[in-house]
Amino acid sequence: MAEILAPWRPILSRALHRNRSLPNARYFQLATINLQGQPSNRTVVFRGFLDDSNQLQIITDSRSEKINHIHHNSASEICWYFPKTREQFRISGNLTIIDENHHNQAQRVTVWQNLSDSAKQQFTWPYPGEVLTEDKQNFFQETPSKNKPISNFIILLFNLKKLDHLELRGNPHQRTLYYLDDSKNWIKQEINP
Ligand SMILES: Cc1cc2nc3c(=O)[nH]c(=O)nc-3n(C[C@H](O)[C@H](O)[C@H](O)COP(=O)(O)O)c2cc1C
Repeated sequence: MAEILAPWRPILSRALHRNRSLPNARYFQLATINLQGQPSNRTVVFRGFLDDSNQLQIITDSRSEKINHIHHNSASEICWYFPKTREQFRISGNLTIIDENHHNQAQRVTVWQNLSDSAKQQFTWPYPGEVLTEDKQNFFQETPSKNKPISNFIILLFNLKKLDHLELRGNPHQRTLYYLDDSKNWIKQEINP
């Protein structure tokens, strides 16, 4: 069943549309909390929303360090800047892992099939983060299936709890907070920039 569209959805979709000429505008920073309780940050690609839901999709490798963090603590934060419209979205929530054991394999297959060949190939590379021992030419020996996702291919779903939207255009700046209340309804509030 389709979720009710959150009030921040059209605002984020508008930013994506107005920045569509900039491929980099689809990258954002995704922070997790490591096993020592310290923040850990990296750049990822926005892969669209899951169907009609309010969940953001990211793809990653099940062998990557961030997966250990998420298993331990699913809390996460996104920081996303759109250069053309000069607006920042700071989004907090938690992450759900769609791996090869998850019930929604249809979605995992669809996202995999839409990946470029070079993006698919990256999932055949040796264990990320380990010391480089292999000749990099050997990284390209395996050609993954076009239709069946490789076992370490994962979708991360970002479930939002709060979104802080800062617009630098205009003086003074505009800042709007969206958050879920105790009854899981979205509240929209203007706050001081
Ligand atoms: C522009 C850019 C886009 C990236 N996109 C992704 C991505 O979509 N998914 C991903 O797992 N890593 C992506 N990376 C690599 C991550 O930033 C990071 O190096 C990698 O995921 C390992 O992170 P971890 O050790 O914290 O798990 C991207 C890096 C850059 C520079």
